[in-house]
Amino acid sequence: MNYSNIMEEIKSTRDYKETVVKSELLKEIISAGDTALENHGLDIVLFEDGEQTKQKLEGKAGYFGKFIGAPHYIAVLSDDGRKSKEDAAYIMEMMRFKAHKEGLGSCWITIPNTDEIKADLGIDIARSLCGFLAIGYRYAGIFKKDIQEKAFRQGAIEITYMDEWGNTPAWEDLEARGLDQVFYLTRFAPSWGNKQPWKFLILKNHVVLAVEKDSSTDTDLDTGIIKFYFEKACIDKGLSLQTAEESGEFIIPENYEIRVVYNI
Ligand SMILES: Cc1cc2nc3c(=O)[nH]c(=O)nc-3n(C[C@H](O)[C@H](O)[C@H](O)COP(=O)(O)O)c2cc1C
Repeated sequence: MNYSNIMEEIKSTRDYKETVVKSELLKEIISAGDTALENHGLDIVLFEDGEQTKQKLEGKAGYFGKFIGAPHYIAVLSDDGRKSKEDAAYIMEMMRFKAHKEGLGSCWITIPNTDEIKADLGIDIARSLCGFLAIGYRYAGIFKKDIQEKAFRQGAIEITYMDEWGNTPAWEDLEARGLDQVFYLTRFAPSWGNKQPWKFLILKNHVVLAVEKDSSTDTDLDTGIIKFYFEKACIDKGLSLQTAEESGEFIIPENYEIRVVYNI
């Protein structure tokens, strides 16, 4: 898959055609998510009957209960630890990329993990409802164009610090480290409420991902998504990457926490 192109193109779709997506294609999309991580220990559930699902979730899921009507939905269930939630977001984003590649639109939908909602959806799985996705063909008919723009994103130099926290690099500094294109792409990651709650600290051969602590939102999902973008951007740009132990040598402010350290 050419991740770079999709990172630039993909945006949330909130208007769908009623056209049903073929079951085989939906299964391929789920398979792309399922195989994106080894031994992920997550459950992926497909809801083929979008209308029925919408009736059950209207007013209960989505920003301020504003549910998004779509022909199909996909749920990911995770264990409660933050790594499991990050993984859920990672594979969800992979499914969005596969859907985009196949000409489909998608949109994350915020969903509370309650027994009531799980029962409404007929989910009899102990794991927590973690991610929810609307999926289908984008509405772009003659009466209504698909005019929704990709939402604003911070620039590559706005999401990076170099050598020490608060030290904004020049574009040339990122170029000199061979990271300009990687961060140009990484910046496109979507997030809850488009908050983009992350910063990358580039220090020697390390890239440290720090995410804002915010009790009002579920930052584990945002963390999984930004990891997906950064890791896939590195692959596309030919950079090899290993995760490293957090050794305590990185100084970041109180309101952020280190979520992963990469060696590049
Ligand atoms: C975890 C998560 C939950 C989201 N929940 C909703 C939602 O409930 N309703 C909605 O319209 N968009 C939702 N979004 C989509 C974001 O608002 C959107 O990705 C972001 O504003 C960037 O816009 P773009 O995807 O069009 O570039 C969610 C995104 C994430 C990552």
